[in-house]
Amino acid sequence: MNFHVMTLFPELIEKGMNTGVLYRAMDRGILSLHTYNIRDYVADKHKRVDDYTYGGGAGMLLQAEHVYQTYLDVMRQIGEDRKVRVIYTTPQGSVFTQAKAEELSKEEDLIFLCGHYEGIDERVLEEIVSDNLSIGDYVLTGGELASLVMMDAVSRLIPGVLNNDESAMTESFTDGLLEYPQYTRPEEWHGKKVPEVLLSGHHANVEKWRLEQSLERTRLRRPDLYEKWKAEHDNKS
Ligand code: ADE
Repeated sequence: MNFHVMTLFPELIEKGMNTGVLYRAMDRGILSLHTYNIRDYVADKHKRVDDYTYGGGAGMLLQAEHVYQTYLDVMRQIGEDRKVRVIYTTPQGSVFTQAKAEELSKEEDLIFLCGHYEGIDERVLEEIVSDNLSIGDYVLTGGELASLVMMDAVSRLIPGVLNNDESAMTESFTDGLLEYPQYTRPEEWHGKKVPEVLLSGHHANVEKWRLEQSLERTRLRRPDLYEKWKAEHDNKS
């Protein structure tokens, strides 16, 4: 997977990606990251990227041409004549989910356009963006953290990025439920004992307990997901 990020803050993207699991995956050549500073594509010498909004109102908008020139350079660097998805990170997008992460992880290249304080001129968005995505119903100062969140969630689904393939399979959301509680040594900590069934070595009972825990946790914490899971499973039976 090759990530291409158009941003005013490339150092934030690079710092965010150059740690831990993602760094290791880039080092091994499973992932690559290319950042493009939109300011570098401004023709005038003052390097001003934004301007006032037509119609009035507070805030400044990133101008279309700078974003477009950045995009053209990204496409030149990719160098092939094929469609590449362009994700615009914006609170006005549809909410990024595990299903979307799975869909995006199948692509060879992904281009991210990081939103900017008040926004970007609509005309360039119409021309280049394929997916408007939000990471949740709150407003960030820019789209960089949202891009990092999405790149992280997509990366861990790519074969070889995680050491243990299994950990990508069993975690929360893969089957629409939250993950069950887990325990490691010692057997007793602060007076709390590890549930008996997990020490029993009885595999089927462990699985049954985990499913019950997942269901109960999902019902309490995410009733929306619980109802969806129930509706799907009731249909099957
Ligand atoms: N930019 C600002 N807020 C955002 C959000 N919630 N998701 C994605 N991009 C954003």
